[in-house]
Amino acid sequence: MYKIAVAGTGYVGLVAGVCFAEVGHKVTCVDIDEMKVEKMKKGVSPIYESELEELMQKNYKAGKIDYTTDFKTAYRDADAIFIGVGTPEQPDGSANLSYIATVARQIAESITKDCLVVVKSTVPVGTNDKVEQFIHDFLVNDVRVEVASNPEFLAQGSAVHDTLNAERIIIGTESEWAKNLLTKIYEPFQLPIVSVNRRSAEMIKYASNDFLALKISYMNDIANLCELVGADIQDVAKGMGYDKRIGGKFLNAGIGYGGSCFPKDTKALEYLARQNGYELKTVKAAIDVNKDQKTMLYKKASKRLITFNGLKVAVLGLTFKPNTDDLREAASLENVPLLLEQGADIYAYDPVGAENFARLYPQGKNGNGHITYVSNIETALEDANVCFIFTEWGQVKAITPEIYKNLMRTPLVYDGRNIYHVEEMQDQDVEYYSIGRKPTN
Ligand code: UGA
Repeated sequence: MYKIAVAGTGYVGLVAGVCFAEVGHKVTCVDIDEMKVEKMKKGVSPIYESELEELMQKNYKAGKIDYTTDFKTAYRDADAIFIGVGTPEQPDGSANLSYIATVARQIAESITKDCLVVVKSTVPVGTNDKVEQFIHDFLVNDVRVEVASNPEFLAQGSAVHDTLNAERIIIGTESEWAKNLLTKIYEPFQLPIVSVNRRSAEMIKYASNDFLALKISYMNDIANLCELVGADIQDVAKGMGYDKRIGGKFLNAGIGYGGSCFPKDTKALEYLARQNGYELKTVKAAIDVNKDQKTMLYKKASKRLITFNGLKVAVLGLTFKPNTDDLREAASLENVPLLLEQGADIYAYDPVGAENFARLYPQGKNGNGHITYVSNIETALEDANVCFIFTEWGQVKAITPEIYKNLMRTPLVYDGRNIYHVEEMQDQDVEYYSIGRKPTN
């Protein structure tokens, strides 16, 4: 059992902290937000993530996890401090490392015994070297401190499961001491550990995320071609996925990837390459395809409808993917403003993301248009002239073609997630457009 402190209680930090407690370590999670800390002590998670609150409550009761704003006490005698604070994208595509720097300095000024600092946040290659130097520069006591890279691969919506069942743990270290300590911390997880140097570990994270982004953009590119030549992207993906060298996952064409990771990490790697005088053409292409993909359906619908002015538009799904309330880089954020600008009367449904969306686009008159948030899909569809599907929530998938047909004024559906069989929509006389498949006729 090790004494572990975790800096930052977002997706990466909180989930790591809870999982370390679950496997038997003694964990203190540090956050600057007092209100958030009080809530977490009561077992309330600041993020929407299944299984998380249950484990927070169980481990808090067992005395294995605690939450605090008092970083000095938390860091003072920790065996290892994991950093899981954000590295938001800056306008030029580079990562903002100011949160990491703040934590690094706090660590340097607090620790009183030998300590391994483990960076879990996604940081550009070479950052961990700098963090180690920075800590040494500000170190107050005469202790051994090293920095290790341990990137996180969890996906939102399945964060706890992904952490406890990870396909691999990447450990990037520069000494046997750091490697052995981190390996021992992860031992109770009983998962495969890949041990490399720090810079390779940092690169594995970007290269993995960007490869997945590339895979999606490639499928979206092929999907657009499928439409032009009369092929069906879902059949194409199925046929491709059987080849183990390609793999069946992440072949779903759609309205483009969103979230806090792929958009940010593609731009950051492209930026890193540019800084080093190299043009990363593949990743650049993935970014370009994704940009166009997000408004693909809007453009199709614009051609079909002439104008959205005064039309009732049902929008189903606002988040960047299901099972999260996260809106970052979601397709809805590209399309809703376009629709509002055109004077659309939007009825938006999202089971958990509506509240966050309403903070950006409050209910009522919005520019030339109007937006109303509804808690059931039928209300959104009733008398609607057109429907857009941006997120494949289970509740949206449960809506049958008959419901569109019966409720909408004109059953016209633009599906960014390929939820329905074209034939079934055809059978109900729903005019249906999706991604990479022929429309109904
Ligand atoms: C992603 C990675 O999957 C995680 O491994 C990684 O740890 C994480 O980023 C991160 O760096 O923190 P996440 O952004 O939570 O996780 O969500 P994904 O499930 O990967 O989905 C990302 C986007 O790609 C979503 O908008 C989703 O709709 C889209 N997507 C995914 C597709 O369009 N097609 C697919 O086949 C798969």
